[in-house]
Amino acid sequence: MGLTNLQKDIDVVHMDLDEWDRLMNVNLKSVLLGSRYAIPHMIKAGEGSIINTASMAAFAGDATRFAYGASKAAVVNLTRYIAAQYGKDNIRCNGVAPGLILTPAAKNNLPPAVLNIFEKYYALPYHGEADDIGYTVVFLASDESKFITGQTSQVEGGHYIANPSIADFQEYINNLPAK
Ligand SMILES: NC(=O)c1ccc[n+]([C@@H]2O[C@H](COP(=O)([O-])OP(=O)(O)OC[C@H]3O[C@@H](n4cnc5c(N)ncnc54)[C@H](O)[C@@H]3O)[C@@H](O)[C@H]2O)c1
Repeated sequence: MGLTNLQKDIDVVHMDLDEWDRLMNVNLKSVLLGSRYAIPHMIKAGEGSIINTASMAAFAGDATRFAYGASKAAVVNLTRYIAAQYGKDNIRCNGVAPGLILTPAAKNNLPPAVLNIFEKYYALPYHGEADDIGYTVVFLASDESKFITGQTSQVEGGHYIANPSIADFQEYINNLPAK
């Protein structure tokens, strides 16, 4: 579940506060409620694995969608709290933070210029797809990840792994006079 609003979620000064509340409800309170209702059953069952959906927007500032980013950063820390508080009940809680994923909506709605920006900054030469998130979730749900809890896996093609000024530095280095 998730909500983002490119028209209304622009900056702190102009954000409509009703939209802020709606966004926090859909993106953050939904995560709280999912765990709130699932955990008592997991305690009864003696085990459980919760996987929350965050976003790479949780980890950096950007030109727009600050409320979305704030809601997803809260999901990352809520994931840690749930993991810390229910670990002794044999319940793990992890998250997945997708970068841009070419879901049908993204494919249909994002103009090529925006896709090109992402492509330029990934470390990898291709876009992410829904399966990339799905396989991560399967891993986190399985016993193969039984010693991982409180973590949010960043599935984003290496978009955020380098200094953002890397292209400028590369150009500077390439233009240094030969010795
Ligand atoms: N696609 C991406 O590039 C991307 C990147 C980062 C994070 N995410 C996150 O991944 C998750 C899924 O996104 P998606 O790209 O598949 O989008 P999507 O629009 O296909 O799915 C979002 C889902 O949330 C549901 N939803 C929205 N408001 C709701 C409400 N009030 N009550 C109940 N359900 C509601 C929608 O019905 C829809 O099924 C979201 O949490 C999103 O923030 C997606």
